[in-house]
Amino acid sequence: MSTTERRRGLFLTFEGMDGCGKTTQMRLLAERLRRAGYDVVETVEPGGTAVGQQIRRILLDSTNREICPTAELLLYFASRAQNIEQVILPSLRAGKLVLSDRFTDSTLAYQGAGRRLGEEVVRQLEQIACGGLKPDLTVLLDIDLETSLARARARNLTEPRAGTRMDEQGAEFYQRVREAYRRLAEREPERFVVVDGRGEPEDVAEAVWAALTARLPELHV
Ligand code: TMP
Repeated sequence: MSTTERRRGLFLTFEGMDGCGKTTQMRLLAERLRRAGYDVVETVEPGGTAVGQQIRRILLDSTNREICPTAELLLYFASRAQNIEQVILPSLRAGKLVLSDRFTDSTLAYQGAGRRLGEEVVRQLEQIACGGLKPDLTVLLDIDLETSLARARARNLTEPRAGTRMDEQGAEFYQRVREAYRRLAEREPERFVVVDGRGEPEDVAEAVWAALTARLPELHV
């Protein structure tokens, strides 16, 4: 986002492989920031708006086998464009702190690398859908492939969302996703904070908090 806009709110995103714990960590951080007096808005991708929720259902419905990679890519960006317009930008302009469970880095990792669509096409769509909106800070919860697959399996046994369309990829797909995330973090060390996601949730939350308060001096907590 432009410098003038950034001066108002703060935009933080959580990224990582399925099962990395980002949804839990984002909730814990939101609670802590609210206790510190911040006006926090939580959003999720795909989803975040009523239209986005409908797009999410299409994307994750495991009976939608025929969705081609380009249609998948456009649907993720359609949900994002709606979220930016309806939730993220208005909240940032109002000076709020916006936390998003996934954003464009997910598309670079999953569609760019996982689906092998390449970075270039994702960047082109980012221009159209996000108009230069980038997170101020991104927490990447890094876990290895085995942990990701084991947690996804365990979750699929206990949750009704069991077996989404995106869960049906092979180990090589997830390996490409993980490597892409790590490359992105190496390339933009000033934006990314990489936290080991394998520990107990409370310990991971402490590591996220420490990294965040060190990196964002504008946060007053
Ligand atoms: P979630 O389970 O973290 O909410 O994410 C839903 C799935 O969508 C997950 O498997 C990751 C995938 N995804 C993409 O492939 N590309 C994207 O741009 C986003 C936001 C999510």
